[in-house]
Amino acid sequence: MSESLQALRGMEDLLPPASGTWQHVENTLRGLLLDYGYQEIRVPIVERTELFKRSIGEVTDIVEKEMYTFDDRNGVSVTLRPEATAGIVRACMEHGLLRNQRQKFFSTGPMFRYEKPQKGRYRQFHQFDVEALGFAGPDIDAELLILLARLWRLLGISHVSLQINTLGTAETRQRYRADLSSFFRESFDLLDEDSRRRLDRNPLRILDSKNAELADLIARAPQMTQYLDAESAAHFAGLRTLLDDAGVAHTVNPRLVRGLDYYGRTVFEWVTDRLGSQGAVCAGGRYDGLVAHLGGEATPAIGFAIGLERLVELFALAGQPAPTRVPDVYIVAAGEGTSRLAFRIAESLRNDVPPMRVEVHCGSGGFKSQMKRADRSGAQVAVILGEDEVAAGAAVLKPLRSGPMGAGTEQQTVAVASLADAIRPYLAGPLTGPVIETVR
Ligand code: HAM
Repeated sequence: MSESLQALRGMEDLLPPASGTWQHVENTLRGLLLDYGYQEIRVPIVERTELFKRSIGEVTDIVEKEMYTFDDRNGVSVTLRPEATAGIVRACMEHGLLRNQRQKFFSTGPMFRYEKPQKGRYRQFHQFDVEALGFAGPDIDAELLILLARLWRLLGISHVSLQINTLGTAETRQRYRADLSSFFRESFDLLDEDSRRRLDRNPLRILDSKNAELADLIARAPQMTQYLDAESAAHFAGLRTLLDDAGVAHTVNPRLVRGLDYYGRTVFEWVTDRLGSQGAVCAGGRYDGLVAHLGGEATPAIGFAIGLERLVELFALAGQPAPTRVPDVYIVAAGEGTSRLAFRIAESLRNDVPPMRVEVHCGSGGFKSQMKRADRSGAQVAVILGEDEVAAGAAVLKPLRSGPMGAGTEQQTVAVASLADAIRPYLAGPLTGPVIETVR
């Protein structure tokens, strides 16, 4: 294939069997969120550029250098969403969902950032995003972190740890920002180019610098805790108590400031040392000022996003197999008129109560190659149809693996009308057939 037709750098295809693992991880997440009372919301992948600039902040890596921005055919500047919070907040405001109401939402889908691709970092990546709007107290902060701790347990992931911090209110941040700016200005010569640029407009982000040469200087910088207002301090203490009660271990990291401007008070990151340099699996925090900043009524809110590529990788490293769905029955058919009978039988087994999972062999192939496919499909039994069977209104039922106690191991010829009754003893579960566990 010519290079000009290949997928873009940093944009990956998701192929089976990996897609099965993704489904398992996504289904686990979806089930968990629904159980905690969160509802799904879906918002567009493309929004006005202005929305992201205003929400995420002009002086952030995302807005300054990572957005996929272009003019549409009408000359409107639009952007492929680099994250989900801005779009969800916009949708809530546009549909009046925040008027005296509280909302708990989740959403999932692709995000786009023009970053340098490497393992765990892509230009199209996928987030599972959760947002709770209209909640002011630390209880909801705790709920989000407690449900995440449960998620790791459900997926058998143990190598993640929680870092939390509080950024205080807009006012305390302003005082802190001014002092931080003076502090770094005194050592202007030591700063790298990025930090110098941030000095005036966003000095908090200097704390986030990955430049090892700045580590000493940053360690000596004033800390947010010294500036914290009483209410933010109480909020943070309240959160920590609830986390302790729930047994959710956490470390306070005063350098954790996050790369998006909308945060205030609680911020957090779940990090791992198993994924090389891309160690943040999940990150989020409070954005109590965002709705008002976008022109709505002041609404406290908090949320997080999980990077699904990173989560799936961690799940795979944990070594637990993802359950795979296999058919109960595989229908093998060769010879004149057998296809028609195969489809008739398949649909009637699917109509059975409970319905059977049936795969019909499609495409050519003799009995031998079809039987190989039947075996590989993981099905419990094969139903075999040849011209003789069609003429007799019968089918051959062949067990493919050792079934539950009492189910015979020999193949037998069964009248089509009694096929469902003959198959049922081979299906283990009360509702569905067996699930074969395969290790990836
Ligand atoms: P974020 O920290 O920019 O926060 O991204 C959240 C997570 O998305 C990261 O921890 C990481 O797992 C994943 N991620 C980010 N960029 C990439 C990439 N290029 N490739 C692969 N994975 C990536 C947000 O996006 C906020 N909207 C989270 C939030 C929701 N805060 C409040 N509500």
